[in-house]
Amino acid sequence: MLPSVLPTETDHVPVLADEVLAVLAPRPGETVVDATFGAGGHAGLLAERLRGAGKLIAIDRDPTVAPFFERLRRSSPVKMRLLAGEFSTVLGQLADNGVRADAVLLDLGVSSMQLDRPERGFSYAADAPLDMRMDPTAEPSAREVVNEADERELADIFRRYGEERYSRQIARAIVARRRKQPFERTGELVETIKQAIPAPARFGEGHPARRVFQALRIEVNDELGSLERALPAALELLRPGGRLAVISFHSLEDRIVKRFLRSQEHGCTCPPEFPLCVCGSQPTLRATPRRAIRPSAAEIARNPRAQSARLRVGVKIG
Ligand SMILES: C[S@@+](CC[C@H](N)C(=O)[O-])C[C@H]1O[C@@H](n2cnc3c(N)ncnc32)[C@H](O)[C@@H]1O
Repeated sequence: MLPSVLPTETDHVPVLADEVLAVLAPRPGETVVDATFGAGGHAGLLAERLRGAGKLIAIDRDPTVAPFFERLRRSSPVKMRLLAGEFSTVLGQLADNGVRADAVLLDLGVSSMQLDRPERGFSYAADAPLDMRMDPTAEPSAREVVNEADERELADIFRRYGEERYSRQIARAIVARRRKQPFERTGELVETIKQAIPAPARFGEGHPARRVFQALRIEVNDELGSLERALPAALELLRPGGRLAVISFHSLEDRIVKRFLRSQEHGCTCPPEFPLCVCGSQPTLRATPRRAIRPSAAEIARNPRAQSARLRVGVKIG
């Protein structure tokens, strides 16, 4: 039987929803871009604020969001379209085609639907094909990375993207295991990780495979690279006065967003030891508020997936 992709009561719960509405503050007649449509939770709330006048452009690289988009389109009077693809590419194409937006939202990472559908292979909690691709037509899959990357590359991925203490031991165990039989399923990987780490660490904080799965997901979907490319594209797409909101879920993403906002706010790219600016670059946005917005204790209690969320905001200067 095919897995259900129809919207259900257990759809993704939008994180920091009130805060996103407050900072993006869409007004009737404006153009809003939700670059990570997912189940359309944020998009629905943003579209409501347009009060029937304005445009919503939705982007997602996962084709299974289409029924969620159709549901929203049927229930909203706002003009909307869904563009399938990687957000940095699509944002760039929109900007190149002269589209201008008043608000852009990036709610990074995976959705609950992706995590909760075992057949997508994102979860260490269920045995499934080792996949982890948000776009099922993209390459590589987690199976390819686990079976083809060399030992040093694997250790590097686990350490950099998962901050995994036992990255070298796990990489070595993976390479030894795949010489006998290539990995096909998440369960085989979980077992190999458990065997590779010292016994006390198997019962430590969280699931022993959590960090490796996070690292593989980031690598497979080039999550940091696409964020690096998307931020300047989103800024280009915004009108002067336009708002950019980015929700990240781990420190690697948040650091990229924070650095981008700081550098655009600063403008000048001259080395700090230069007495005078010679580059002439001007500030392009104001980061406001300057600090990341975090979820309230009440939100975390309602939705534990909000725990690590950080919202950062920039307003384009013009
Ligand atoms: C956290 S979910 C968004 C949930 C959404 N805000 C909601 O309220 O339902 C992230 C979504 O963005 C998509 N996504 C993540 N990275 C992407 C990228 N680089 N390009 C396009 N879509 C991406 C994922 O496929 C997923 O559907």
